[in-house]
Amino acid sequence: MDRYRGNSQAIADLVKGHAVHRDVYVNEEIFELEMEQLFPNSWIYIGHESQLKNTGDFITSKIGNQPVLASRHRDGQVYVLHNRCPHKGVKIASEPCGNTGKFFRCPYHAWSFKTDGSLLAIPLKKGYEGTGFDADQAAKGLTRIENVKIYRGLIFVRLAKEGLSFEEFFGDPCPRSITWRTARPRVSLR
Ligand code: FES
Repeated sequence: MDRYRGNSQAIADLVKGHAVHRDVYVNEEIFELEMEQLFPNSWIYIGHESQLKNTGDFITSKIGNQPVLASRHRDGQVYVLHNRCPHKGVKIASEPCGNTGKFFRCPYHAWSFKTDGSLLAIPLKKGYEGTGFDADQAAKGLTRIENVKIYRGLIFVRLAKEGLSFEEFFGDPCPRSITWRTARPRVSLR
């Protein structure tokens, strides 16, 4: 039986004053709730623009348990993509950083994707006939993450489609310093 899911009072009771219940660190249900709710709904820092100076430069990161990658495309833009092949879910980039040239190639069946995530080529396409292969789905390429904010070169991402804007999440930056006016967490577990 779920002890914490849907029980916001039980979750609130985990922290009392300066005391933090051990379940915050070791309970699997709390971990799952964090992966489902906290990480996707928060703006997470994944890297710095200076790591992506040249076309084809990329970095990889994780948001909760979701692998992502950011790459510099030939149009000069930084694109943040799910680091997962649309065919069978294999990780596209396994290195922490590097330069992929003009495209990424999946190590499993060699589909290739441009550095903005769009599909470039599927080798031996005829071989997929009768396998349940969904051409429309494949044509979407790597899933692009829409909510990306580059603030002073720092790349932040929110996985969830709907949610607090970057400015709402962090509050207005203090004009005389680089500290944020964030006094309390903006996202909580339910
Ligand atoms: S899993 Fe990537 S091409 Fe098949």
